[in-house]
Amino acid sequence: MDRFVVQGGARLEGEVAVSGAKNSALPALAACLLTSEPVTLRRIPDVRDTRTMMKLLHHNGAAVETGGGVVRVTAEAIQNPEAPYEIVKTMRASSLVLGPLVARTGRARVSLPGGCAIGARPINLHTSGLERLGARIRQEHGYIVAEAPQGLKGGVVYFDRITVTGTEDLLMAAVLAEGETVLKNAAREPEVADLAALLNKMGARIQGAGTSTIRVQGVRELHGADHAIIPDRIEAGTFLIAGAITGGDVTVTRCVPEHVSALVAKLQQAGLEIDETGPDALRVRPRSRLRSVDVTTEEYPGFATDLQAQYMALMTQAEGISLITETIFENRFMHALELSRMGANIRIEGRQAIVAGPSQLTGAAVIASDLRASASLVLAGLVARGETVVDRIYHIERGYENIEEKLAALGAQIRRESPG
Ligand code: EPZ
Repeated sequence: MDRFVVQGGARLEGEVAVSGAKNSALPALAACLLTSEPVTLRRIPDVRDTRTMMKLLHHNGAAVETGGGVVRVTAEAIQNPEAPYEIVKTMRASSLVLGPLVARTGRARVSLPGGCAIGARPINLHTSGLERLGARIRQEHGYIVAEAPQGLKGGVVYFDRITVTGTEDLLMAAVLAEGETVLKNAAREPEVADLAALLNKMGARIQGAGTSTIRVQGVRELHGADHAIIPDRIEAGTFLIAGAITGGDVTVTRCVPEHVSALVAKLQQAGLEIDETGPDALRVRPRSRLRSVDVTTEEYPGFATDLQAQYMALMTQAEGISLITETIFENRFMHALELSRMGANIRIEGRQAIVAGPSQLTGAAVIASDLRASASLVLAGLVARGETVVDRIYHIERGYENIEEKLAALGAQIRRESPG
């Protein structure tokens, strides 16, 4: 299994361009199942999860052509409206095909995702929403079976709690449902608005995406489209923190500053200078000594849970005590244990992590448990004294395109090792 070897101490300097958003690419790829015509998607990052989603579409019967970040999907006919366990177990976001498959073919058989490192992550809100639109749902042999032989009927879906892929799944089901659907307490993430932009290009009639109430007028069928997805705000945030933790001077380009405004506010409070150096560029430099600043993760536009682990690594270098509260997932502090092994002073109390800093981190052999935890360990390795070996980097490869090349180009001492 590949691993990263990081030598700490380098100040990162220079520019890094952000790739397309993994969490936009996945629903956009699933949306291709909604039409028999070709859909061209641009800026699709070449990461493990997008490759898994393309494998799933192929399994469903779609033709998938890729090259240079452009993916062209043609789902002329869907022979196999299912997401098998062997694919779903490697990527829970496979549940994003549930809505499109039911909407397009009247049935779907999707494996339940099972557990995940950061929490139970059930999909009950996806299935109860589909039932509101007339699908019959049953569970058998570890699979969800959804059927709507007469097609879906529009209705009002109220999400008990905000769910990003739940909102996206229901949005993709609603666009072909008969009549009007209203999604209430919908997720407001930029990736939801990006999916709606693609669907409207395909002929859907969606209003309010990006707000907590989304209205959809169902149409009989969708047509092909050509769409460039938004930049990855989590990658952008990760690189801003990489610049911050090394006391460097890093400009993140091809990003949407608005999408990382909660992080930028925290970094400025923590003593960093952040400037918008262009319509799609943010520059981070030190302004004063790093100060500890509390953070609570919340749904967008609040502070992203996907940046919590990276922010915790930064707070180990800040003067004082910072309180990090994780409200979205019930078990998203595994990185704290590994950071402590590197010398960080962190105490976990339920949903809160108390970080006392600054700590001089020392390099260690560490293991990643999920995508963002692994990013946080790499960031800690950048500032630790000595060598850090981050194992199981397939987690990182799920959502970061060429992260080691991008970090090395900024001056990081990082290399990939393929032992055995
Ligand atoms: C999306 O996951 C992202 N993944 C996650 O990014 C991100 O952490 C998460 O949203 C929160 O922002 C993609 O977009 C592919 P949720 P999702 O449904 O949709 C509970 C990464 O690192 N819930 O918004 O699965 C759930 O357990 C990944 O790129 C239910 O109870 O998250 C969680 O506690 C990690 N029932 C909360 O809601 C449901 O039916 C929010 O989950 C659905 C969700």
